[in-house]
Amino acid sequence: MPLLKLDDHELEVPKGTKILDAALKVGIEIPHYCYHPALSIAGSCRMCLVEVEGMPKLQTACSTPVRELPPEKKIDGRYDMVVHTTTGKVTAARKLVLEFLLLNHPLDCPVCDQAGECLLQDYSFKYGEAHSRFVEDKRVQPGEELGSGVVINLNRCILCTRCVRFNREITGTGELFVENRGYHNKIAVFDGKPLDNPLAGNVADICPVGALLLKDYIHSTRVWHLSHTPSVCTECSAGCSITVDAANDRIYRIVSRENEQANGHFICDTGRYAFHTYAEGVLTEPLMRAKRGWKALSWDLAYRTVADQIDRHGGKGAVRALASPTFPNESSFLLGQLMQRLSDKRNVALIPVKREADQTFPAGFKISGDKGGNRRGAEDMIGKLAAGFKSFFKDEEGVLLVMDADGRAEVTADLKGLFESSSFKVVLASNESNITAMADLVLPVAGPFEREGTVTNDQGLVQWLQLALERKGQARPAWLVLAELDRLLTGEASLYTCAGDVTWKINRAISAYSQATRFKLGLKGQLLTGTG
Ligand code: SF4
Ligand code: SF4
Ligand code: FES
Repeated sequence: MPLLKLDDHELEVPKGTKILDAALKVGIEIPHYCYHPALSIAGSCRMCLVEVEGMPKLQTACSTPVRELPPEKKIDGRYDMVVHTTTGKVTAARKLVLEFLLLNHPLDCPVCDQAGECLLQDYSFKYGEAHSRFVEDKRVQPGEELGSGVVINLNRCILCTRCVRFNREITGTGELFVENRGYHNKIAVFDGKPLDNPLAGNVADICPVGALLLKDYIHSTRVWHLSHTPSVCTECSAGCSITVDAANDRIYRIVSRENEQANGHFICDTGRYAFHTYAEGVLTEPLMRAKRGWKALSWDLAYRTVADQIDRHGGKGAVRALASPTFPNESSFLLGQLMQRLSDKRNVALIPVKREADQTFPAGFKISGDKGGNRRGAEDMIGKLAAGFKSFFKDEEGVLLVMDADGRAEVTADLKGLFESSSFKVVLASNESNITAMADLVLPVAGPFEREGTVTNDQGLVQWLQLALERKGQARPAWLVLAELDRLLTGEASLYTCAGDVTWKINRAISAYSQATRFKLGLKGQLLTGTG
């Protein structure tokens, strides 16, 4: 392998590795705009210029490959390539590039949503000049709506073409293009062909400046006010890694979090905007169906009601349960354990959730058609019972204990029949849904962004779902509600004080999960033992 000298670092890299990739690997900053690890090389912004010994002109680090020299030609008798990133020539070139990029760029930082995470702002501060020699009028172009909730502020665009390449290479839809030439250059869509694909929101994430913006985020907060919680999307079983950006107990946006084992660099718009749905119809207290509407209960009374109803309707052996393929593994595990202790009958299954065809894009990004985001995990926790409950749930009376599917449950004839035949229906849910509408008692539990625990995607990658928001009102984590019900119904002391305690138990109880410990999961997750 060629030996590369990069400033003071010596590193062996495979022949052909781009200098910028090598630099990123060892943590040397070479400023760049048009380069993106998931996209083809454009080499157009010239921000990444570096000095390569033996080459008369500065080279773009993003497009220059590391070469291998024959032994007699090695530099200083050992190096195949010697690259300098901080020489006077390089810093002078960076200044000129930044001055050029800023010619028509407005002094918008105080009102720009990208401020605080803008590469133009950061590089200007680090590598640019405080003054510009440009005294002419700046070019001013009106903002435009591109479609799919994305708008463009053309004045801020530096024409790096990341967005154009994204739509050509990742989605294959090609809606965006560079219109006109020279001074009149601009990113545009064709008349009547707006930006319209399920991954459209990613263009705002990858735009290095504040040109591409999501309508639902514009001027809503400043980025330095946001907390950034690494978590997982559970809207489908692809299990993309995400960052939840929140402030004052409100989510402002969700962005993709890079994870090669899951989503790569991107997420879909369903996952990106899902948080809006969960702000509606939030359940904040236990509710019992009354003659007219609902009556609020204390948790103690709610638990006692469950116990009384079980006694009244056939006893513990007649309790049936539906686990949720959208809740973390910890709740499904405890539900399975509770049902095992109540009866030796096969009395727990999965609530049915919508399944559509998978959508796979040219570069390989997949949106799973299975909207039960943690189906694999739920099946692992309760056993493969997803085939349906009809086969072992007879039309008998008894208490039905249901974990909702975050509004994604499909009310099939079988499910309706099960609800109708049950004498008393207890539903654990975070938001009002088609399932809570059929309940007799609703127990409010933490919503999708208020949960902690593990989730398993369809590839067997277990990731840690991190709490991004406080629970609302009296809502409790589902695992805690199940542990408390277990204690009340079986009389055995609970072993669990936090979700991590249940994870620990899962690590010991299910061999495929033995390595999926809280510690080992880290930020990128862990494949199930025996997977991959
Ligand atoms: Fe680059 Fe953003 Fe302009 Fe697209 S809109 S070319 S991503 S600066
Ligand atoms: Fe969420 Fe699935 Fe979209 Fe990924 S592909 S962001 S898991 S809905
Ligand atoms: Fe190398 Fe743009 S990042 S030319």
